[in-house]
Amino acid sequence: MQASQPPPTSRARYFGNDDVSQECKDLLSSLPSEEDWTFGSLCLYQGFWFPSRFLNGILACQNHFQAHSSDILLATNPKSGTTWLKAILFALLYRAKYANSDSQQRHPLLIQNPHDLVPCLELRLFLKQENPDLAAFASPRLLATHLPYTLLPRSVRDSKCKLVYLCRNPKDTFISSWHFANKLKPEEKGQIPLPESLDKFCRGLNAFGPHWDHVLGYHKASSETPEKVLFVMYEEMKEDPRAHLRRLANFLGCPFSEEELRDGTVEGILRMCSFDNLSALEVNKSGNLSTGLEKKWFFRRGEVGDWVNYMSAEMGERIDGAMEEKFYGSGLKF
Ligand code: A3P
Repeated sequence: MQASQPPPTSRARYFGNDDVSQECKDLLSSLPSEEDWTFGSLCLYQGFWFPSRFLNGILACQNHFQAHSSDILLATNPKSGTTWLKAILFALLYRAKYANSDSQQRHPLLIQNPHDLVPCLELRLFLKQENPDLAAFASPRLLATHLPYTLLPRSVRDSKCKLVYLCRNPKDTFISSWHFANKLKPEEKGQIPLPESLDKFCRGLNAFGPHWDHVLGYHKASSETPEKVLFVMYEEMKEDPRAHLRRLANFLGCPFSEEELRDGTVEGILRMCSFDNLSALEVNKSGNLSTGLEKKWFFRRGEVGDWVNYMSAEMGERIDGAMEEKFYGSGLKF
């Protein structure tokens, strides 16, 4: 009798996408590439570094995604708090549907991971299928992307759909990415050296980087078209979540009524989407996303300023220096 094969590890499932179109293979072979400290190999496409294994999904999304004017897109750099904002936006937008106490017990966020409820266009929906059928999504559709503003599908920029961009202090984002990358790495290879990763990050070499250009693209779009792009900071959300939830609701055209402000609806959403609540749910503690990533990897500490526990003052100053130079004149401060 043959011994049964062990199930593939999360890492093998994650990196095991060989389903790449010829167009993508040809393009890949013509693009500059670099070894990455997070997601394997990176390729430089239209001014940004992307994990080569996602280029297929990026091209398909750019070529085929048709935005509706009612769509809401959450855009982020990875490790900026995407999981949190996915949960917040889902709970906010669909609150009427799950308002009564009976449906509260069965709220989708209690039984599904935020990444399953709000899928990413290029990493998920368009990765395996060139033109997936999105008809099953109820309107307004809530979707996510890590694509930089200038690389968004034309229809997103041309339509009246709205974008919420979440950014986070680059030092915490970097440390969060480094932890995440270590999870993806085979254990026997040990930890990824932090100084080398930092050096690459400061030179713009990270997935969806340069980090600064990603942030600046959305920041500029938000200044120019504030009715279309809302720029939100993780640290500000943490400091005053109630005010920022109301700001999100106003921007999305679903402001809280006087009654909702009185009856605890705002607090209920924040409580349900809090780090403590989401990370303790069975659905987020075990199992994998369809991409192979373990759900629990998306909940580490969820704190502001955790970088000090991993980086020396000089290392922090390197990111500060890069930030000062890149964000100069933009008004962006962390
Ligand atoms: P840390 O690694 O600093 O803990 P993303 O969702 O973009 O992948 O980002 C992951 C980061 O967001 C992780 O940061 C994670 O712990 C944090 N996070 C996840 N859920 C959160 C929540 N409900 N509130 C605040 N932060 C959260």
